[in-house]
Amino acid sequence: MFVKTAFAAALLQTTSIALAQSFTPLVSKSFTYTNLPYQADPDVGERGVQTGYNICNSTTEGQDSLCQTAIINSVDDFCLWGSPEPNGLIGNVEGEVVAWCTKPGRGTRVIPAGAITGLTFVKTPDYVQVTGLIHQTYLDIEVWDAGGELDPHGSDQRGNPLGGLLFTNAFASSNGNPNTYVQAVEWHSFMGGDTFCLKACDPSGPNAARYCDHVYDRLGCYYNAPASYAEGVFESCLGDSQDFPGVYTGANGVVSTYTQLPESLGPITYLPYAPKPPATSQCSQFTSSDLFSGAPAPTPTA
Ligand SMILES: *[C@@H]1O[C@H](CO)[C@@H](O)[C@H](O)[C@H]1NC(C)=O
Repeated sequence: MFVKTAFAAALLQTTSIALAQSFTPLVSKSFTYTNLPYQADPDVGERGVQTGYNICNSTTEGQDSLCQTAIINSVDDFCLWGSPEPNGLIGNVEGEVVAWCTKPGRGTRVIPAGAITGLTFVKTPDYVQVTGLIHQTYLDIEVWDAGGELDPHGSDQRGNPLGGLLFTNAFASSNGNPNTYVQAVEWHSFMGGDTFCLKACDPSGPNAARYCDHVYDRLGCYYNAPASYAEGVFESCLGDSQDFPGVYTGANGVVSTYTQLPESLGPITYLPYAPKPPATSQCSQFTSSDLFSGAPAPTPTA
């Protein structure tokens, strides 16, 4: 009996070691934009399976697409993560969010006309980023949802969404080939309160994981991706890189790192610093119709 039990225990142990060894965190996987697998996440875990897919083409295109491959190239060519179903709460659908893009042609949903009411695209030495204001119901997100963070981590390291990938050609000038898409392995995004931000960190930069840190998930766009968030402004700029999320310089010149308080201590009512948008330069101004003339009409859900 003892022998049998010990044998079973040994077997179980072997099995769990095998499972642990076969799992690769999403940020440790590398992909080529032109040669993607059907799903970046083939695992079955506590959160189930990847609900969408990464091969996105004309057959998957449309407002019910479950494409989970996003891009961020420029002020008029990027995707945001939105709900796969009407009235989604980010906290409930974070594992299943899908790409909503500014242009058709990528096998995704397309962000409806008038959704984005203010927008800044910025390219810095370390990342590209879009920030702005949005009618989030146009991306099927519940009107009152304060939302939350999306990133390629999560406590199970499978990402939010599971298997979600982000690519960009905006770092092309740094690698010499203007047509090359690189996988922005480290990225973060917040969606909620009619505010959005999406930052893709240059994987060839030394601090990609820090600029795209994922531990300040209760602080929202203004702290993680400080920018103007101005209504009615549509612009594309160059810019300095921000301070790392959570890092700030006090009035006395001392640089400190904020530690986010756990949710068990209740709402965050005080932060020792204000968001500090970095300097921008060479901004080009646009109107919404300059950028999004091909967008479909919204389907009101509320
Ligand atoms: C189009 O995308 C679907 C869904 O990912 C995939 O099953 C299909 O093989 C793709 N078609 C082509 C021609 O790549």
